[in-house]
Amino acid sequence: MTATDFPAGGQPPDGHAERSAALLGAALTTRGFLPDDEAMALYAVAVRAAASACGPLVEIGAYLGRSTLCLAAALAAVDTAGPVVYSVDHHHGSEEMQAGWPDHDPSLVDPGTGRMDSLAAWREAIERAGAEDLVVAVVGDSARVAANWSTRAALVFVDGGHGAVPCWADYRGWARHVVVGGFLVFHDVFADPTQGGRPPYECYLDALGSGRFTEDAAAGWGSLRVLVRTSLPWG
Ligand SMILES: C[S@@+](CC[C@H](N)C(=O)[O-])C[C@H]1O[C@@H](n2cnc3c(N)ncnc32)[C@H](O)[C@@H]1O
Repeated sequence: MTATDFPAGGQPPDGHAERSAALLGAALTTRGFLPDDEAMALYAVAVRAAASACGPLVEIGAYLGRSTLCLAAALAAVDTAGPVVYSVDHHHGSEEMQAGWPDHDPSLVDPGTGRMDSLAAWREAIERAGAEDLVVAVVGDSARVAANWSTRAALVFVDGGHGAVPCWADYRGWARHVVVGGFLVFHDVFADPTQGGRPPYECYLDALGSGRFTEDAAAGWGSLRVLVRTSLPWG
């Protein structure tokens, strides 16, 4: 898939296409955990969210900025003076990114603290792509941020910790902040347990079962699942 192949609804309108395509190109050359086709699908649904002008886009789990730049590209496709992407990450890595785990990258360990720290690399990616006006970093634990959050989001992308505790905390903390008609997007949803871990799939099923979300199956791609918020209120 290339930057000109947009899943349904993702074509940038005239006027902003050039900047959007450049940001999308930057996203696709940034290392991360979204395969190209899923990155394009995220971009496509984010364009719809940005076009709704119903609030900011929020991502949980930024890592090196790949998904962040997909979301920024979507904002650029619609209106650069509009809402921003709030990119939430403590930048100390998920469990599976720590030393001894398969996704560990020793080059991201801060020699001063001995802890993993992806913030500088993320910031450099956003700056190099020219997306600083579109993206605001929120550096901290996502559940803590969610508990103190009060702005309805047009889209929440959940791609933080994939263990049961962080994943459920993200889902429980952030799903309620999606505006009616807005999108809750999960990454790494696998119905088949041999393909990947259970928590994102279980949270996705819980959201559907709650009646507060319906699925936009056409917008999902690979392990990306797109849910749309209904008007059923939270209890
Ligand atoms: C799978 S990576 C995100 C990948 C990214 N979306 C991409 O496109 O490549 C998960 C990220 O979530 C962050 N994370 C994990 N648990 C977190 C928590 N409780 N609060 C904030 N960030 C967290 C990690 O630091 C890591 O950068």
